[in-house]
Amino acid sequence: MTAVSSSFVPSEVEGREVGRQRVSTSLDTNGIRTQFPGLANNWHYLDTAATAQKPQAVIDATVAAMGRDYATVHRGVYARSADMTLAYEAARRRIAAFIGAKDEQIAFVRGATEAINLVAYSHPRKGRVLLSALEHHSNIVPWQLAGWQVDVCPLTADGCIDLDAAERLLTPEHNMVAFAHVSNVLGSPLDVARAAEIAHRVGAELLIDGCQAVPRLPVDVAALGCDYYVFSGHKLYGPTGIGVLWSDKLDTLPPWQGGGSMIDRVTFEKTTYAPAPTRFEAGTPAIIEAIGLAAAVDYVEAIGIEAIHAHECALVGTLREALARKNSITLFGPENSAGIVSFAMAGVHPHDIGTILDESRVAIRAGHHCAQPLMEHLGVPATARASFGVYSNDDDVAALIDGLARVERIFG
Ligand code: ALA
Repeated sequence: MTAVSSSFVPSEVEGREVGRQRVSTSLDTNGIRTQFPGLANNWHYLDTAATAQKPQAVIDATVAAMGRDYATVHRGVYARSADMTLAYEAARRRIAAFIGAKDEQIAFVRGATEAINLVAYSHPRKGRVLLSALEHHSNIVPWQLAGWQVDVCPLTADGCIDLDAAERLLTPEHNMVAFAHVSNVLGSPLDVARAAEIAHRVGAELLIDGCQAVPRLPVDVAALGCDYYVFSGHKLYGPTGIGVLWSDKLDTLPPWQGGGSMIDRVTFEKTTYAPAPTRFEAGTPAIIEAIGLAAAVDYVEAIGIEAIHAHECALVGTLREALARKNSITLFGPENSAGIVSFAMAGVHPHDIGTILDESRVAIRAGHHCAQPLMEHLGVPATARASFGVYSNDDDVAALIDGLARVERIFG
C-alpha cells in the first residue's frame, strides 16, 4: 500500500491547544475502502470489533468456492473433490502459518465461542478455572456450563487484567486460566507470555481468547507460550461460521462431537477416532468459509498486520485525545487500547448515543458488549464503543466527534 499522510482536525476542536495536524497513518485508507463493498456511500463503520467488513478478495474467493470449484472434501473419489480437499487443507496451512502454528495444530470450528466450549467440555481434567473480570460471556458461560469452578481475577485501575493479582490468586488447584488477549470492550492488551508463566508455575494451562487480537496484533502462538488460542474468522475480515482452535496438545483432548469424518473405525461395540485436528471436525466442514478465511489472511498479510496495528493505534490515540477534551465523556480502558475505545456520556444512555450517531451515518456499538460482569465492574449499565479496522480513517473519527457534539446539543 502506498503511504499517505493524513491530517486530522476534528471540526469541534480545531484551533484549540491539542488534536491538530496529526499524521496518524501510513495506510492508504481511501484505496483500501474501495476494496470493501460494504463501505460504500460514505458510511462511518466503527463496529469492527463486532464484525469486520469483507474485502472483495474474500467475497470473490467465497463465491468461487461455492460455485465454480464447489465439491465436498475428504470423501470424493472424483477430481473436483480431490481439488477441493487440497484447497481446504491449503487454507488450514495458510491460516496456521499466519499465527505461527503447524497445520495439524489448528482445528476449524464455528468460532471462538465453539472453540472455548470444546475445550471446556472435552478437557479431561475439569476443575478450577481462573477468568478475569473483563471476559466476554463466551469465555465465562462455557466454563460454568461444563461444570468448572470459576474464580475471577480483578483488573488494574486502567482496565487491564491484573497479573500480579492473578499470581496471588492461582493455586495448584487451578488447572486452567482463560483470559482475553485484547478486551472486546476496553481494548486492553494482555502480556500473554507473563500470563503463561504464572499459569504454568502452578501447573495450570492457559487458554487465550484471541478474537480481538488476531485482526489487530501480530500473533505468534509458538512464542506466546499459551496452551490454547482461539479466534473467530469474521472479525479477521473473513466469513462468519468459521473459527480456529489452536493447541500444540490437541491430541490430548478427546473428541466432543461425534459424526462422520472424525472417526478411524466405527462398530456398534466400539469406535476409534481420527487424530487431531480431524477428530474435532465432525460432519461436512465449513469448506467455503475456510477458503474465505484463508483469502482474508492473504489480504491482511498483503497489507501487513504490523501496519494495521500501527494504524489502529494512531486512530485510538487521536480518538482518545479528542474524547478526553470533552467534559461530558468518561473514557474507559488503558491508553494503549488496541483498536477499541469505550466511553460514556454523562446523562445520556449509550443506546441514545448510538441511535443519534446513526442519523449521521456513524455506526458504533452500544450496550454491555456481552460482558455484563465488566459493566458491573465499571459501574455502568452499558458503554458506547468505537472500534477500528484496516479501512478506518480520520474522517470516521471526525464524524464520530461531530456526531457526539450533536448528541450533546440534543441532550444539553
Ligand atoms: N464480541 C463481539 C463484540 O464485542 C460480538 O461486539
